[in-house]
Amino acid sequence: MTLNSTEYCDDRLATILQTIEELNHLKDVDSILDNILHEARRISNADAGSIFMVENDNLKFGYVHNDTLFKGDEGREALYVDFAVPINEKSIVGYAALTKEALEIEDAYHIPHERPYAFNPDYDRRSGYKTGSMLTIPLKTLQGRIVGVMQLINAKDENGMVVPFSEESQVYVPLFANNAAVAIERGIMNRELILRMVKMAELRDPSETGAHVQRVGSYAAEIYQRWAARNGIELKEMKHEKDIIRLASMLHDVGKVGIPDTILKKPGKLTDSEFDIIKMHTIFGGRLFVNQTSMLDSISKEIALNHHEKWNGKGYPGRVKDIFDPEATVSKDSRSGTEIPLPARIVALADVYDALCSRRSYKEPWTDEKVLSIIESESGEHFDPELVEIFFEIYGVIKAIRNKFKG
Ligand code: C2E
Ligand code: SIN
Ligand code: SIN
Ligand code: FE
Ligand code: FE
Repeated sequence: MTLNSTEYCDDRLATILQTIEELNHLKDVDSILDNILHEARRISNADAGSIFMVENDNLKFGYVHNDTLFKGDEGREALYVDFAVPINEKSIVGYAALTKEALEIEDAYHIPHERPYAFNPDYDRRSGYKTGSMLTIPLKTLQGRIVGVMQLINAKDENGMVVPFSEESQVYVPLFANNAAVAIERGIMNRELILRMVKMAELRDPSETGAHVQRVGSYAAEIYQRWAARNGIELKEMKHEKDIIRLASMLHDVGKVGIPDTILKKPGKLTDSEFDIIKMHTIFGGRLFVNQTSMLDSISKEIALNHHEKWNGKGYPGRVKDIFDPEATVSKDSRSGTEIPLPARIVALADVYDALCSRRSYKEPWTDEKVLSIIESESGEHFDPELVEIFFEIYGVIKAIRNKFKG
């Protein structure tokens, strides 16, 4: 890049400020990371990049972009890989986290021997990618706390040749990164707040663990993304909705806080009257979201209330006149088809898939084969057939998510 005019720099600063403004409206960590990488790569014209997040004494892999390796949807599985690098001076990302300084490397394969860190070529070996230039930047909050490290790889010139990161990039990307850290911190707080709410429900129902809800949240987000692509939803709206759907899905069963332990933790099959009590978790859940002005609240309410409705109209709780009426109960007047809000149709599929794959107080996990045959046979019965089709299209991503949030 040859950018010298101050006019150009003002432009660049303006777009950076605008991205930061947008980041602050986004709610979930994953899409915040996506936005940050997108903008940082644009500023530096980098082919690839990833973000590692600080977790205890490690840097845990958090997000990746790679234009050369991942075309279209191929890269989505890579978003859910699970690995960590210890924070010490031996790795490049660890070194950047320790020193809290940006680190520029012209060629990963020719790092001077006297440096304490070394490049780990495992990833290149496995993927066939060739790492050349690197710009590694700690993500520092205003208080100087490191929340993560961003690593940009292979800056390119106008002809697409890999070149060292420019002086400009080395100035602007760290500037942007410091603001990005603040947005990341806010995203982490949002997700932790939700996991705290889930913990309250988990006290009642031990199957509603952090791992279960993170899986359901990620399945739902990925299914929605594919649905949005098929249905011509504009990218910006898609990203915003996807974020809300991920968080709201995690709260689908918070209404179980209102169900007695003796029923929820019963080892065997429920009687009809016990099951009638369980059905109330949809109404209890809907009642928790009273703030009608927030999109997160209104979608959370739709999901909590409707995630057990079925496409064929045989689900519950059906149309309830006033969920806040203390006498409210499930009704025979069920919703069906597209009367059921889309996020709730998505969670119905994601939640049952996860429940079938998991151990419960009342059942063992099922084999994958049996789970998939149920999903298929319930297409058009329990589940929206378009969503079942999408589920199978993105099954590779579904498996990667299951593998990431084990336990
Ligand atoms: P959950 O365990 O999270 O299950 C969510 C949904 O997954 C269930 O909604 C059901 O649609 C599906 N599912 C789970 N296990 C099976 C299974 O073995 N076979 C089939 N065909 N579907 C399964 P559902 O039925 O409305 O149940 C809602 C919640 O009620 C369950 O949430 C669980 O907390 C409780 N529950 C349901 N059946 C029993 C039971 O027999 N014993 C106990 N203790 N709890 C139950
Ligand atoms: C800009 O932010 O306007 C320029 C970024 C770029 O070099 O692509
Ligand atoms: C590192 O920066 O050393 C870890 C990332 C990698 O090289 O693959
Ligand atoms: Fe439920
Ligand atoms: Fe659940």
